[in-house]
Amino acid sequence: MKASSLSFLAAVIAAAAGMVWGLIMGISENHATMPAHAHLNLLGWVSLFLIGIFYHLHPALDQSRIALIQVCVWIAGTVILTLGVALLTSGIALGNPLAAAGSLIVLAAMLLFGWLVFQRDFFADSARAAAK
Ligand code: HEM
Repeated sequence: MKASSLSFLAAVIAAAAGMVWGLIMGISENHATMPAHAHLNLLGWVSLFLIGIFYHLHPALDQSRIALIQVCVWIAGTVILTLGVALLTSGIALGNPLAAAGSLIVLAAMLLFGWLVFQRDFFADSARAAAK
């Protein structure tokens, strides 16, 4: 699977889940888990879709294993962070280490993404050389 395909798929799932979450908060008039809803939408929907667009615009990178790993790490970090923040804001202490772990995982995925952004020409050149 290409990195962009996984990004787009996961982003749409996150958007749908985040919207259902928002509707449940609104209907129940209980906004306690609002920070988790916001993180799921912004990391899972907005950021992941932007990451997918970047990979789609850089085909050599899009087909690399490292980009696919970066997307997987981002998804894992987002799920763990969202769960942690939701538990934390619901008064469950286990949320604290989960939120901490999730935030570090997302940060690691962001640093890897940043490195790939600056390596995009290297990936394009390598793909061109391999095609010759
Ligand atoms: C069906 C769609 C959605 C519904 C029903 C919904 C509902 C809500 C509700 C009820 C709150 C709590 C507001 C408060 O307590 O002040 C909230 C907060 C928030 N939502 Fe959503 N939401 C939806 C989609 C989204 C999307 C797509 C995003 C981001 C791309 C988003 C980002 C946020 C943010 C950042 C906050 C926190 C706002 C603040 O700090 O006051 N939401 N949403």
